[in-house]
Amino acid sequence: MKTDKIYHKNIKKLLNDNELDVHKFDGYSVKSIIEFLKKSHQEFTGKAIPKVEQNFLMLLKNYPNNNQLQTLFNLFIKFEIDLKHHISIEEKTLFPYTKTLYRASIANSLQALLLIHFGEYSVSDFANSHENNECYLGEIIHLLEHQTGFENNITFNILLSQITQLNEEIKMHAWIEDNVLIKKVKEIEQAVSHFVGVSKN
Ligand SMILES: [Fe+2]
Repeated sequence: MKTDKIYHKNIKKLLNDNELDVHKFDGYSVKSIIEFLKKSHQEFTGKAIPKVEQNFLMLLKNYPNNNQLQTLFNLFIKFEIDLKHHISIEEKTLFPYTKTLYRASIANSLQALLLIHFGEYSVSDFANSHENNECYLGEIIHLLEHQTGFENNITFNILLSQITQLNEEIKMHAWIEDNVLIKKVKEIEQAVSHFVGVSKN
């Protein structure tokens, strides 16, 4: 949808600002934030990760006896599995819960009250869940930077810049999820809980 594309571009622009400020996202609805997050999940799994993988494989082909490189590739594959698992949990639980809650709250419906009152979890369960993945990738980058003998290797340098960019994008993604989405949903949860006089905590 055209509007989604505009939102996506604008959100990306806000994320590239020097100072990240939660209030800059006040004008975006929960729905558009979720669309942005979903799109970036697709970009990670459909574009950025395959590109890194491809360059890793090319390097391994050229340096078949480099065990450190092989170990780093294995670590990257583990990171990829963890990230995909994390994405699937978000898309199966957090996003549908958030969407239903948001839709119900703007419609002022009984559904929102019931969802919070009888729901199995609250959005707080998801806060900071990206942290492990970030550490992982940071460690791989750190170890790659300390590899010797690749100074003038084009594939190696491309790989390093791709993986560094992926790391930055995942950090931004995590920031928007933890600080923008979760904050907005907590506000809805609290408002509804307050309304029925029930707090989940
Ligand atoms: Fe995510």
